[in-house]
Amino acid sequence: MNTRTVTSVGERAIGAIGSGFAPELGERYSQLKAEILKPEHYEALEESWKRLLTELDSEIEAIAAEGSNFIPQVEFNAIESNSNTIPDEYKKLLKERGCLIIRGVYSQEQALNWKKDFVDYLKSHPGLTGHPKGSPSNWFVHWSRTQVEARSHPRTIQLMKAVGKVYENDDPDALVDMSSQVVYPDRLRVRQPGKQVTLNLHVDSSSIERWEDPSYREVYKEIFEGEWEKWDPYQIAKRPAGVQDLYNGATNNGSTCSVFRAFQGWVALSHSKCGEGTIRFLPNMRTAIPYLLLRPFFWKDDGKLEFQSSKFPGATPGSGQLLAHDPGLFPHLKHDKSVVGIPYVNPGDFVLWHADLLHEVDRNHAGNMDSSVCFIAHTPLCPYNINTLKDSNRSFLDGSKPADFVYELQYGPCESSFEDRGQSKDVLSVDGKRALGLEKFDVDEPGLTAGQKKIRELANEALFSKE
Ligand SMILES: [Fe+2]
Repeated sequence: MNTRTVTSVGERAIGAIGSGFAPELGERYSQLKAEILKPEHYEALEESWKRLLTELDSEIEAIAAEGSNFIPQVEFNAIESNSNTIPDEYKKLLKERGCLIIRGVYSQEQALNWKKDFVDYLKSHPGLTGHPKGSPSNWFVHWSRTQVEARSHPRTIQLMKAVGKVYENDDPDALVDMSSQVVYPDRLRVRQPGKQVTLNLHVDSSSIERWEDPSYREVYKEIFEGEWEKWDPYQIAKRPAGVQDLYNGATNNGSTCSVFRAFQGWVALSHSKCGEGTIRFLPNMRTAIPYLLLRPFFWKDDGKLEFQSSKFPGATPGSGQLLAHDPGLFPHLKHDKSVVGIPYVNPGDFVLWHADLLHEVDRNHAGNMDSSVCFIAHTPLCPYNINTLKDSNRSFLDGSKPADFVYELQYGPCESSFEDRGQSKDVLSVDGKRALGLEKFDVDEPGLTAGQKKIRELANEALFSKE
């Protein structure tokens, strides 16, 4: 059974999905609306919508007042010296704003060497290509030495363990291990000045599935019951069960993906500032997702629930969730005020954002140097991600395309015949080897919950048991 799906899409072709037009999806989806909301909650939902619009507006004003400074930043040293835990004040900001820049995770020299090595790899294999077609910045490359090293670097592992603690787990039996990672072999961006890229405001990790899949919908239970203030985006127990690609990427536009990510992120491989081809956030967790999820029910803007239409604005089955700039779709988001570019980043800084955070990419790159990043998500070990672990192990060993990226073969080669691609010797840590299925997870580590121990056993069984 294929239980995989989802997305993210570091920076895949999601911008090509469409514009602000919200089509009727058909009768099944209007029925879905009626299934999601229960009559006993209708009154509370209409009241909650009013409160939500007021609070959203207030939070957008707070973002607009500070601009890029609203994006929190912390030094990696401060995490290290705090028992490898994000200090409380920054953890609070990350929870509220859904994003965090971690300064100096790697030395600038290390990050620049990684970029140089990657560019050399591209030069050695001129057939490699990427997106946009003809003038790529997001390269269809998954197993360069740079990527293999960066994903497994001891400081990457250290960072992922620290950020994994930001989520709470109220179920010790939950089959999720936030301190163990699975490699999701995403791509790498080297974007030259002057290049235009269309990657409009969107949220990763699926689209219609947040409403349609019962397990995924359960993550947002409080929102659908008229109590969005009680929703906690940082409860992990229910999240990994959500099916994030019910349609297996049916639109084949590369905007879905098949892994559960607690956070998406990248390490900067260049100096880059706002307006120079980098990322922009709507840095709010508390109200933006409730707004997105309730918007299909308040489509008429009269404050009353409606179930007749089958519109789910921005959601296209088989595609990623797009929040178009068209104010007709999401007028209350006030895109021009609420979405801000990140502050200046240096090579070796890490940018992290929650799976539910709205983000986009600078359309233009007005700088005079490349804007380069290596995508590395926080991808915890859980049943859903064991599929990814097996696939990444296969793809790493033979250099073929990872499952989510097979469609790239219509544009260029895989890396199977490249002898200079990343090999086992380039995996820089034991945890990095585990994340690629090259070494067993430690089931006897002190302090594991029952669920952590069990999921490690399941992963070991899936990777290492003899048929
Ligand atoms: Fe994205």
